[in-house]
Amino acid sequence: MKFLLISGNPKSGGLCRALETAIENGARDGGAEVTRVTTGGVERCRVCGDGWGTCRDTHKCAFGAGAFDELQTLAREADRIAIVTPVYWAEASEGLLAFLDKLRRCEAFGGDGLRGKPVLLAASPGGSGNGLVSALDQLERFCKHTGANVFDFIGQNRWNAAYKQKAAYEAAKLLVTAPDNFGAR
Ligand SMILES: Cc1cc2nc3c(=O)[nH]c(=O)nc-3n(C[C@H](O)[C@H](O)[C@H](O)COP(=O)(O)O)c2cc1C
Repeated sequence: MKFLLISGNPKSGGLCRALETAIENGARDGGAEVTRVTTGGVERCRVCGDGWGTCRDTHKCAFGAGAFDELQTLAREADRIAIVTPVYWAEASEGLLAFLDKLRRCEAFGGDGLRGKPVLLAASPGGSGNGLVSALDQLERFCKHTGANVFDFIGQNRWNAAYKQKAAYEAAKLLVTAPDNFGAR
């Protein structure tokens, strides 16, 4: 069971990193092999061609050599994924969006690397706590476009961090043992 944590967080300390650690620990205690990656090295989409680009058909980024290709492969190979971001400007971080924007284009139309994949979404704002819902909404839209299956949303702020980290641990642990088709009706 491969569990990939995709982080848009550039920091090595702080609350967002603590949330990631809780998720990593939960997944590991659930029996998964956990890999954490950050998205800082991915260049933004160039919006090539007529707007759709060649990635719609090839499911690969024409300019993806390096960081993007490596992360796309890891995402495709993972059995479970957690996406974690600090909240910047009421959105996911720019580094994470650079990766997700490209990945969505590659996977949405028949790439199918994420279709049906169980995903845990988590966001962590700073002082004001504003923008948590819109950041999670943005991540949910990515999942809808790529067909990934949202297992849960974790919204951490400065006031709820202690119990949300416990919830994140439990969610990740359960996500590992949940059936692949947990969302199927
Ligand atoms: C460019 C930028 C934009 C930010 N925008 C928001 C925001 O919209 N709402 C908010 O509550 N915090 C915002 N923050 C604060 C970050 O969410 C916070 O610094 C980040 O989660 C790291 O906190 P941590 O050290 O506790 O992990 C912003 C920070 C940066 C650097």
